[in-house]
Amino acid sequence: MTTITDSKQRKSQLHEYFDGIGFERWAAIYGEAELSSVRKTVRDGHNVMLSNVQAWLAEHRLAPGATILDAGCGTGLFSLAMAKLGYRVTAVDIAPRMLKLGVQQAEKLGLREQINFIAGDLEVVSGKYDAVVCLDVLIHYPSSIFAPLCTRLASLSRGPLFITYAPYNALLAAMHWAGGHFPQTQRRTDIQMIKADFVQETLKAARMRVRRSIHVGRGFYQVNLLEANLIS
Ligand SMILES: C[S@@+](CC[C@H](N)C(=O)[O-])C[C@H]1O[C@@H](n2cnc3c(N)ncnc32)[C@H](O)[C@@H]1O
Repeated sequence: MTTITDSKQRKSQLHEYFDGIGFERWAAIYGEAELSSVRKTVRDGHNVMLSNVQAWLAEHRLAPGATILDAGCGTGLFSLAMAKLGYRVTAVDIAPRMLKLGVQQAEKLGLREQINFIAGDLEVVSGKYDAVVCLDVLIHYPSSIFAPLCTRLASLSRGPLFITYAPYNALLAAMHWAGGHFPQTQRRTDIQMIKADFVQETLKAARMRVRRSIHVGRGFYQVNLLEANLIS
């Protein structure tokens, strides 16, 4: 069983990581810097995942000015793409350094007015949005914290919810276990695997049904992307 203290601790670790040693790593992956072949697979996989979300979201034909919540926006790649399409975006991230890159980019592209950047925990956000996305964020939380976060995200959408999670796989689980014993500097970002059934049950309890789901796998980037809609 996970307590509120466990959840706070995990969020605080992620805040520290993405504002600290993880910042350069992820800013490079989400930017245009030269990368090692391993990290390039992460950039490529992430780009494929983002393209899929954009294509799925486009099918909803949201009107210009519709509202989108980008929960755990990182450096704002998805938020910026949505603002370019004329949507009004709320972009929240627990790591101010990641968020700051998004703000700078939005200013450069003349999109600052369309994006409300919030530094903080995605659970502080309230209201209803026409679509909610939470991409490569829940992959960092164990199932006991994943469930309340996912339930909260579902409650914020009056339309679709798009999330990614790291699917459970026995071989990957063994690799993660072994990886946990490497020296700190050589470890990759901590990923928590969740079983697909658990994700579906969590969404169902939040009155959402999985509409579609795909696996995006490129080298070290392995996630399941899904779209869930409200059960009417
Ligand atoms: C791997 S990055 C993904 C960034 C972005 N969603 C993307 O796909 O480009 C994960 C991000 O989630 C943020 N994050 C983790 N937990 C969070 C929480 N509880 N609330 C808001 N942001 C969170 C981290 O600070 C980090 O920027």
